[in-house]
Amino acid sequence: MLLAPSILASDFANLQSEVEMLNKSQADWIHIDIMDGVFVPNISFGIPVCKAIAKHAKKHLDVHLMIVNPENYVENFARAGANTISVHIEACQHLHRNLQQIRNLGCQAGIAVNPHTSISQLENVIEETDLVCLMSVNPGFGGQKFIEQTYKKVSELKELILKTGSKALIEIDGGVNADNAKKLVDAGADVLVAGSFVFSSSDPMETISNIKHIS
Ligand code: DX5
Ligand code: ZN
Repeated sequence: MLLAPSILASDFANLQSEVEMLNKSQADWIHIDIMDGVFVPNISFGIPVCKAIAKHAKKHLDVHLMIVNPENYVENFARAGANTISVHIEACQHLHRNLQQIRNLGCQAGIAVNPHTSISQLENVIEETDLVCLMSVNPGFGGQKFIEQTYKKVSELKELILKTGSKALIEIDGGVNADNAKKLVDAGADVLVAGSFVFSSSDPMETISNIKHIS
């Protein structure tokens, strides 16, 4: 299992030390949430902050774009140091083209999927994607409650991946904690994003190590 702490829950006034802590920790990736105030009812940060994180990060940067018209910005995020770029299926008129665009930039292409979106909608693009980010909360905010329906979606997605021979990783994003991590991995999750559970704990490095060992 790969663990991707979400920088959204970190102390933005001390971003460099937060990134250095993640470098030293057992975290595998750093999850970077980009919110535009249009696709989701919140604004986080953008390309310059991603670039600043990349300057200090020694881990794979997993950029989650919760924005409309992502095709206008993916090149800048790739230049800013993103390794994986996920776009929302609900925000893309031409998802197939958007995924190719991301791969052509030398990044891994991910599809993020809102809780209300069915796995069947991924059938025609599963072979064009390197990762499916299943949202286990409605996107826009950290610290929300995990939606239990997610387990069923993980199993459905795993089945689709096995059936098609796709190599896509299954990522779970939202409300991940020590209580659900193992069950998610057992259901087929490859990557777990954890924001507030990691950064609200008294010792984030130890919390990261604990989740890595639980699952
Ligand atoms: C939600 C974001 C998540 C969020 C996860 O819109 O996409 O990545 O940061 O935070 P927690 O783990 O606190 O739910
Ligand atoms: Zn996210």
